[in-house]
Amino acid sequence: MNAQNSDNHERTIGAIYKRLKSVLSQSDARYVLSKRARISANELITQSDALIEDSIYSQIESDLEQVVSGKPLSRIYGEREFWGLNFKLSDATLDPRQDTETLIEAVLARFEDKTKPYKILDLGTGSGCILLSLLSELPNASGIGVDIAPEAVKTAQENAQNLGLENRSSFICGSWDAANRQEEAERFDILVSNPPYISNQVIPNLDENVQKYDPILALDGGDDGMDAYKTIFIQLPEILKKGGYGFFEIGFDQEDSMTRLSKESRFSLMGVHRDSSQLARVVEIFFE
Ligand SMILES: C[S@@+](CC[C@H](N)C(=O)[O-])C[C@H]1O[C@@H](n2cnc3c(N)ncnc32)[C@H](O)[C@@H]1O
Repeated sequence: MNAQNSDNHERTIGAIYKRLKSVLSQSDARYVLSKRARISANELITQSDALIEDSIYSQIESDLEQVVSGKPLSRIYGEREFWGLNFKLSDATLDPRQDTETLIEAVLARFEDKTKPYKILDLGTGSGCILLSLLSELPNASGIGVDIAPEAVKTAQENAQNLGLENRSSFICGSWDAANRQEEAERFDILVSNPPYISNQVIPNLDENVQKYDPILALDGGDDGMDAYKTIFIQLPEILKKGGYGFFEIGFDQEDSMTRLSKESRFSLMGVHRDSSQLARVVEIFFE
């Protein structure tokens, strides 16, 4: 094989797919080829000897370098799939985690009548992934997402538009009490929140990529990681309707602190939902 042929051989779809699979999962390798070269899963098999254009080859090479240096694909492409929907990300948004889908499942299990016009509040909305996923499942519900980061609010609004949910969602830039401080403040049937809950003592020990690519505002929960929950719990009587439910994502070691906080409050603890690794992930409360 001469130099030209060997170079060409490296640029076939099959060879590039193989290289991608050496550093990424099979589905991520397929994702890169579909994003950069619009190659379908079927074409990976039927056109594996076809050559990839130089410019696309260079893009994929650059993606690979970034992946090897630890940058998540979601940050390279600025998007993440969550609850089967596509969410745009920005520097101000957390990269949504699959474990957070436990919160969506918990809400849908509680609110079985999908046709009711539930009002939902999402505190610390980030990309809007929690609120918008719920609205995609509850066709008559509407909701407000609140975030202190203006760029996150902008990204959540864009996601609402991209998903065709802009008529049932609105977003406010402000702190935990922003929705109940509005002039015509309403109360909500459902409160959902995945607030920052990592103790600031632990943040320096987090995985380097989390520290590098997730915004600190999305992580820092104060000395014991509980700051946001404590503030939100004080607001709850003004946020929830009587008969309303709250769903909070928690860290793997916060079950005891959160059940204590719930028991000390005026709310009934309905249960703790576990994620796919059987870790306590979501605390559910009820406002009697
Ligand atoms: C852990 S992230 C969750 C983002 C998104 N809900 C998700 O699950 O992927 C927490 C979010 O809370 C926002 N946040 C932090 N402090 C806040 C505050 N005081 N008031 C409102 N939002 C806040 C952050 O900007 C961040 O977007």
